[in-house]
Amino acid sequence: MQDNSGRCALVILAAGQGSRMNSDLPKVLHPLGGVPLVAHAIAAGLTQAPSRIVVVTGHGAEAVESAVAEIEPAAICARQAEQLGTGHAVLQAKDALEGFEGDVIVLYGDTPFISEDTLENLRAARATHDIVMLGFEAADPGRYGRLIMEGERLTGIVEAKDATPEELAIRLCNSGLLCADAATLMNLLAEVGNDNASGEYYLTDVPAIAAAKGLTATAVTCDEAETLGINTRAELAEAERLFQTRRRAEMFDNGVTMTAPETVFFALDTWIGGDTVIEPNVVFGPGVTVENAATIRAFSHLEGAHVGAGAIVGPYARLRPGAELGNGARIGNFVEVKAAEIGEGAKVNHLSYIGDASIGARSNIGAGTITCNYDGVFKHRTDVGADVFVGSNTMLVAPVTLGDGAMTGSGSVITRDVPPGDLAIGRARQENKDGLGARMMSRLRALKSKQKGH
Ligand code: UD1
Ligand code: MG
Repeated sequence: MQDNSGRCALVILAAGQGSRMNSDLPKVLHPLGGVPLVAHAIAAGLTQAPSRIVVVTGHGAEAVESAVAEIEPAAICARQAEQLGTGHAVLQAKDALEGFEGDVIVLYGDTPFISEDTLENLRAARATHDIVMLGFEAADPGRYGRLIMEGERLTGIVEAKDATPEELAIRLCNSGLLCADAATLMNLLAEVGNDNASGEYYLTDVPAIAAAKGLTATAVTCDEAETLGINTRAELAEAERLFQTRRRAEMFDNGVTMTAPETVFFALDTWIGGDTVIEPNVVFGPGVTVENAATIRAFSHLEGAHVGAGAIVGPYARLRPGAELGNGARIGNFVEVKAAEIGEGAKVNHLSYIGDASIGARSNIGAGTITCNYDGVFKHRTDVGADVFVGSNTMLVAPVTLGDGAMTGSGSVITRDVPPGDLAIGRARQENKDGLGARMMSRLRALKSKQKGH
């Protein structure tokens, strides 16, 4: 027999309706930690270096499939046209698993907190058993399936709806996750029927069918918190709370300082280097990396951005996708940066929009400066060299380039390139009218007293 111990595939079930979300958005696309719920199951599975990833879609399939393609381009989606049960759902992955030999791990798209250790335990138990289910001791077993054990052997799983009172007394419950050889699992699933209280094809029938064929099944357990599935918006909010609590703790362990951690929100993939300080009320959307010893000041919002070491962002700054801050760069209050590189030590300190641009090292962008990047149809680039001084309230009308060491006069509207070292002034020349201010004022005052007299 071939040694398949190193190979695994994922089958992630994401076809269910999630009717209790009361939503037009498919359940697995509701965001948790800044990314769709299903991204968490995919991330958990990716810790096992799977050679194939199959996501079973059904309800809202098109939306789920396009989200999955963005989250993990290598994933294959398999449609389950009608949601006939978890067993039927896994069977839909059969074609996508064609030619794959090895173990398959079944995950749920709505169950985001499965740990790497748990998946490793699940796989390790495959050394001694054909089917390994993931179970947990439930505080309130409620409607979970119950695992029927004889010693370490799992002889069957009974759904709460189909259970006898004695079976309902069992506290060891089914999380729904399992690990089994792919071909074996598909063969067993072909034998699953739907003669039960729900009229569904239950994945949970697999262990009993396996036992009848002389195969063995067992269960490994994890903490109940890991198996938390999202069914309602209240559960989603609770999951967000748990997710953020855990991420904050990890950030502290990694050497990040937060003065009010309960007001700082991370995404699944946020990466922050040691000795970075995060002030209160900061939100990290997806795709943010911050190097060491940076400062993210209060009320800043970052997504799809990279912040270099020692950079200072905010307060009240917004970094949008494609913002790349060099080491020691400074983005101040009410500054928005999108698809722009800010060079080492460059400063954009006040009230600016910098989009589709690059700002060279040590350049200083004056207060109120705007890169006018959009002409209503196309976006254009602004390139500012190193050691440039852009005067306050400069409009940089893209496409435009400012050479190294150039300057602009404040209030300028810059529509032409500025060669290195030049000063560009683009505004109406000032004229002073001799004594006109005083004459105007006395005329206006006279007019006002005349009006009062009437
Ligand atoms: C299932 C298990 C139960 C376990 C519980 C844990 C079965 C029969 N029961 O019950 O033992 O305790 O999970 O939460 O497996 N799905 C599909 N297609 C379908 C049906 C479901 O993709 O046709 C997906 C759902 O989107 C969901 C997952 O499978 O992600 C579980 O389905 P759900 O209906 O929630 O199963 P439960 O009744 O909770
Ligand atoms: Mg469920």
